[in-house]
Amino acid sequence: MIGINSDATSVFPRYLSRSYPSIERGEGVWLYTAEGDEILDACSGGAMVASLGHGRDEIVEATWESAGDIAYMYNQFFTNQPQEQLAQRLLDVAAPEMARARFVSGGAEANETALRLARTYHVDRGDTGRWRVISPAQSYHGATMATLALSGRTGLQTPFDPYMAKHLHIPPSTKRFDPTGEGALDALDQVLEEAGPETVAAFFCEPVSAAALPAYSPPTRFWEGLAERRERHGFLVCFDEIVTGIGRTGRWFAGQGLPIEPDIVTAGKTLGAGYAPLAGTLCREHVYEVLANGSRAFDLGHTWDGAPLPCAVGLAVLDFMINNKLLDRVAARGPSFRDELESALAGCDIVGEVRGHGFLLGVDYVDPRDGQSLLPDSLDAATLIDDKALEQGLLVTSTHSTRDGFTGDQTLLAPAYTSKDEELAEMINRFVKTLEKVEHEIKAALGRTNQS
Ligand SMILES: Cc1ncc(COP(=O)(O)O)c(C=O)c1O
Repeated sequence: MIGINSDATSVFPRYLSRSYPSIERGEGVWLYTAEGDEILDACSGGAMVASLGHGRDEIVEATWESAGDIAYMYNQFFTNQPQEQLAQRLLDVAAPEMARARFVSGGAEANETALRLARTYHVDRGDTGRWRVISPAQSYHGATMATLALSGRTGLQTPFDPYMAKHLHIPPSTKRFDPTGEGALDALDQVLEEAGPETVAAFFCEPVSAAALPAYSPPTRFWEGLAERRERHGFLVCFDEIVTGIGRTGRWFAGQGLPIEPDIVTAGKTLGAGYAPLAGTLCREHVYEVLANGSRAFDLGHTWDGAPLPCAVGLAVLDFMINNKLLDRVAARGPSFRDELESALAGCDIVGEVRGHGFLLGVDYVDPRDGQSLLPDSLDAATLIDDKALEQGLLVTSTHSTRDGFTGDQTLLAPAYTSKDEELAEMINRFVKTLEKVEHEIKAALGRTNQS
């Protein structure tokens, strides 16, 4: 599995010293490379997107059919049936607590739309001083400058710091630092007081984290406390469900299992399921009403917003999910999948915690010398894990967040909802083999450090 490297391509690749295997074809959870390798996809295309598997004829046909009618029109002048139907279907089936939907092309666009909506809501109410956003520091909401500023991760923001708006952050209440959720609430009170609650437009977070803290959700007390503070201070709560929306945790939206309802929620990834770039920003009636009775405009338009082609794909995705009862499948199979992974990794000294919500699983690593500390930054265990997994014919996605100070290396498994039992078992099997090799290398590297 060698692939194409930066000297042999006209593409400007992401990392210039890596070779990229070229994927030719996918079928369900199996990927086939131009070099003749077969890879088991345990992360829905690597970015939690292809949640219905690869090569679904039903979706491809719906895409072609819609493109044949009309593929593109700009939504400044027209609406179209796929956009209308997708909005209605989403609200009817997946998010009855929401009132309106705006469609865009990707997660960062959807989150920026949420940000603009929160600000417009306050401005339209005459509360023009509210602009700041508070969010957990260990988060990810997109790669654009506005969404990057919502994350407190200096590792990602450097060297673009001058472009980052001065938002506010609280430490995430992970098991390591704040197992009850009270610490994060105290931190929230403190930033509210320092900034002045009258300057705060929104609290922005994932109800269940994906890439930033795989499969982590703060304790119930945190959510209850957040709801109390929203009531007291008048900011909005925005849930980023770019990854978790549309079934990933076994509910249409992960937030539907929490003791708080967001005012604005975003969905992406699975909404287009890899067959079209598609994401959406949904809001509740009271948010919409403020604009309806105020400026009567939410004038923000990306070229592909609400276009017929991606919206037709979104409709086909929802149909496929409903026809194949995939929500039930994820809800029923997710907990046992997590338990199976945890027991398979029980003997692995570098594994500190296995978390799971539906088909979103997270593995958190520790230093095997004390079973608690983060692995040394210099080891970059995340890259080692992803590379070794590919050698085993397995696609997982790991993060190396040590520099940010809140967590260390972690792996995210997010298989397609359509994965069969034997495929899930094979993912675990290959992952265990991967971690055996990684652990061996890490222990050897740590041994060398101890000696020097
Ligand atoms: C939670 C979350 N929000 C937003 C985004 C950004 O989505 P996109 O890359 O489609 O802009 C991502 C991407 O991984 C994400 O994981």
